[in-house]
Amino acid sequence: MNSAAKQNVDYKILIRVIAQAKPYSAVLSLAAVLAVVLAPVAIFRPYLVQVMVDEYIFKFDIPGLTTMALLFIGALVLESVLRYFFMYSSNWVGQAVVRDLRVKIFNHITSLRLSYFDRTPIGISTTRTISDIENINQVFSQGIITIIADFLTVFVVLGVMFWVSWKLTLVCLVTMPFLIAATYIFKESIKTSFQQVRAQIAKMNAFLQERLTGMRIVQIFNAEEQEMKKFKKINREYTQANIDSILAYSIFYPVVEIISAATLGLMVWYGARASLGNEVTLGALVAFPLYLNMLFRPIRMLADKFNTLQMGLVAAERVFNLIDRQDHIKNEGEISPEKFNGEVAFKNVWFAYNGLDWVLKDISFEIEKGETLALVGSTGSGKTSIISILNRLYDIQKGAIEIDGVDVREYELSAYRSRMAVVLQDVFLFSGTVLENITLRNDHISKEQVIEASKMIGAHEFIEKLPGGYDYQVMERGATLSMGQRQLISFVRALVFDPDILILDEATSSIDPESESVIQHAIETLIAKRTSIIIAHRLSTIRHADKILVMDKGLVKEYGTHEELLQIEDGKYRELYEMQFLQVGVA
Ligand code: UTP
Ligand code: MG
Repeated sequence: MNSAAKQNVDYKILIRVIAQAKPYSAVLSLAAVLAVVLAPVAIFRPYLVQVMVDEYIFKFDIPGLTTMALLFIGALVLESVLRYFFMYSSNWVGQAVVRDLRVKIFNHITSLRLSYFDRTPIGISTTRTISDIENINQVFSQGIITIIADFLTVFVVLGVMFWVSWKLTLVCLVTMPFLIAATYIFKESIKTSFQQVRAQIAKMNAFLQERLTGMRIVQIFNAEEQEMKKFKKINREYTQANIDSILAYSIFYPVVEIISAATLGLMVWYGARASLGNEVTLGALVAFPLYLNMLFRPIRMLADKFNTLQMGLVAAERVFNLIDRQDHIKNEGEISPEKFNGEVAFKNVWFAYNGLDWVLKDISFEIEKGETLALVGSTGSGKTSIISILNRLYDIQKGAIEIDGVDVREYELSAYRSRMAVVLQDVFLFSGTVLENITLRNDHISKEQVIEASKMIGAHEFIEKLPGGYDYQVMERGATLSMGQRQLISFVRALVFDPDILILDEATSSIDPESESVIQHAIETLIAKRTSIIIAHRLSTIRHADKILVMDKGLVKEYGTHEELLQIEDGKYRELYEMQFLQVGVA
């Protein structure tokens, strides 16, 4: 019951995988036709042998024999050529489908909402785009068509055998139940060990990826040895899984050998007697072992191929599951403003990452055009969450966020985001040049604009000094640049996009007074003349803001201007101010 249901699902996936080859249906059809043609062509050679023995060798027809030999060679060449085209076309379709799927997946992943990435390890997404998809290729290259070709061969061979001598064929088939049983057992055992192998590979990949990314921590904390132990354990399990699968092979192949040898023995024993009694010709007796070989080989391979097909379908199922995920932020709005006026309003907004634990509770505030709002609050109070939902990285559950009096959900998503720039707490740089990191390969931004923006921010000087200047190659995640430099680059990135609303998550790390004044100047340049929201940690930034919102555990604790908030007796802001003020005073 259960397995029947599973078969059903597999069948559906198979159809869907084949449907991916639609643009290449001509090549796929060619492969299918070749598969059909190959079966009779292959059987032609043993048949020629049989005819040669019966009609020419024993009749001493030497010229006739030469013709037959040439025919034999011709058949061999024809078969090789057909086989070449068959393999090439079926593999080609597989690769073409895989290429298309990779693009599809990448496209899909980049539009998924962030909550998907919060829940899914990076390793999983890479596995889907690279190795799972590679397995789908096998559905074409080793799966369906070859299986069809093998079945055809088996049927054609059996047909010819019956036609030549049904008695001899029946004798040969006596061992068939054993072969089928052995194949079935092999197929099942290899399936589990294959799955084991794949699971272990995934585990090893994930482990390695994480350690490589966090190599700094591993080395700083002297954790090499412990990590080594963990790696050894994973490595052992991986090896064991491989050995298990080898075990299945090393039992199966000898068993098949024994069965085919027994079959051959039976055939010779019966065939020789029958031949003596003139029931079968000598030619048939010579050709039968060749037929048998053609019968056994595909059957022996079928188990393997079914497994490969199965694996490909499992991979396909995973890939399709990802493609089918409708985890996008809804983009149903139609308003695409050229520009925002810059009025932002939160109206009783409630938000939870997982839909259960409220991270923001009943948040309300308003910012006028050109104003700056400073968000203040202890760590984990929900500041970053406020800007994430404003940027529509996540959807809110209750309340409304409005820009220029219109609910954000009514704007077209990319138009909406393009009018807004976000500078994040931890700056992320991609590998590429400084220039590319600033423009993000947007062709509408010229190098002159970038240089101008850099000068305004105060980053031009240090970028110029880098080897290659704006063409300096940033390593992955910007590892070769200092924190402050990365910050400045991200400021330039925001400024060249000239957003109507600027959001800044100020870095928490303290910096030296000199850089502090550079950063301060940069921030002032950024927020000048536009609506800004700054998650501020430094008093100098906070004091310049038009309004201050003090967050506490997801709630708005205090809201007002600097002067207003200082008036509140036992106020959180006042406490914060006095603490920082004292520090500054002491220093
Ligand atoms: P925030 O990330 O909004 O806090 O997380 P914050 O105010 O900006 O903190 P700092 O100053 O940068 O440190 C608010 C709450 O949301 C949860 C966090 O656990 C925290 O309790 N959170 C955050 C999630 O559940 N998922 C996330 O992806 C991020
Ligand atoms: Mg934060």
